[in-house]
Amino acid sequence: MKGAMGLRRAVCPGSFDPITHGHLDIIRRAAGLFDELIVLVIQNKDKKCMFSLEERADMIQRVVKDIPNVKVDVGDGLLVDYLREHDASVIVKGLRAMSDFEYEFQMALTNRQLYEKAETVFLTTSIERMYLSSSIVKQIASFGGDISTLVPAEIIDEVMEKAEKENEK
Ligand code: PNS
Repeated sequence: MKGAMGLRRAVCPGSFDPITHGHLDIIRRAAGLFDELIVLVIQNKDKKCMFSLEERADMIQRVVKDIPNVKVDVGDGLLVDYLREHDASVIVKGLRAMSDFEYEFQMALTNRQLYEKAETVFLTTSIERMYLSSSIVKQIASFGGDISTLVPAEIIDEVMEKAEKENEK
């Protein structure tokens, strides 16, 4: 688990389209477990995203600025290649319900198949965040609803503006 410098570095990958309070909860807790946590915005080819990778990374950066050992980065290839290049082997993911499990389990096994050092650590969601997802946030925002309890305050305006623009298309 330790990198060349003896640093315990973990990567928390995801689409983060956009980051929610659920993600932030996992990020904060994971940051407490490792020396350095890289929040990695990386492409999920199965999803059509509302925000560009850079927009998503910018939003996360604004939200995590008070957590000193968290870095934000963007990746455009395979997660395992990023791990290799950044001397990291731990992947942190949040689990909400059993419905997340099958897919996450498949990804964890595949990543280890591709890179034998890759270990996935699952953190369970906080009960109050169980229902939360980026898709729900986008759905509510596109109807002009109140997302203030779902996403961090720093990004509310950006999400609402983007949803409005998407509606005009
Ligand atoms: O937040 P998500 O969309 O559930 O996260 C999935 C993500 C982005 C972590 C996954 O799709 C991923 O790792 N994408 C990078 C490409 C890759 O390595 N794919 C193989 C995963 S087994």
